[in-house]
Amino acid sequence: MNTNKAEVYITAEQIEEKISILAKKLNKDYAGEQLTIVCVLKGSFMFFADLVRKLDIDVRTQFITASSYGSGSKSSGAVKSNVDALNKDVIEGKNILIIEDIVDTGHTYHRIMNGIKQYNPKSLKFATLLFKPARLETEVHLDYLCFEIEDKFIVGYGLDYDEKYRELPYIGLMNS
Ligand code: IMP
Ligand code: MG
Repeated sequence: MNTNKAEVYITAEQIEEKISILAKKLNKDYAGEQLTIVCVLKGSFMFFADLVRKLDIDVRTQFITASSYGSGSKSSGAVKSNVDALNKDVIEGKNILIIEDIVDTGHTYHRIMNGIKQYNPKSLKFATLLFKPARLETEVHLDYLCFEIEDKFIVGYGLDYDEKYRELPYIGLMNS
C-alpha cells in the first residue's frame, strides 16, 4: 500500500462522522417524502456512495457530470456538464438534492442549479462535502455543508489531480 501519497488533511474518521450527521439531517428533513439525490461525477462518487448508504428515506438516484478544471488545478470558469441532457421526467415535480464534492469558485454550482431548475423540480437543494470560501467568485446557497476549508488544493476521497488520488480514503494535501 502506498501510504506516502498525500499528507492527511481530513481523516477518514472525520469524514465518516460528518456524513453520519448529514444523513441524520436528511432523514429528518425529507421524512415521509421521496428524494431524488443527484451525484455530480466524478469527484462526488465516494461521498455519494457513503451518504446514500446511511439514508433510510425513499430515495431515487441520478448521476450527472460536470467538469471545470481541465487537467490543472486552476478553474477555467467554463463548466462542461450533461445536466441539460437529462430526461425531464426524472426531475420534474421531484425533491432534488445535488451532491457535490467541493464548491470552489461557485461556477459549477450555478451551472448545475440553473440546469436542474429548467426541469421544474418540486424542491431543489444543494449539499457539498467541502467549501473553500476564499475562492468564491459568485454567490452560492449551500443547504448542507460538511467541511469549510482553507484555500488549499486537496485530493482524495473522490477528488483528483489529473485523475490521480481519487481512491484515497481520506482528504489530503499533495506532497509537492
Ligand atoms: P468550482 O466550479 O470552481 O466551484 O469548482 C468545483 C469543482 O472543481 C469541484 O467539483 C472539483 O471537481 C474541482 N475542485 C475545486 N477545488 C478542488 C481541489 O482543491 N481539489 C480537487 N478538485 C477541486
Ligand atoms: Mg475534479
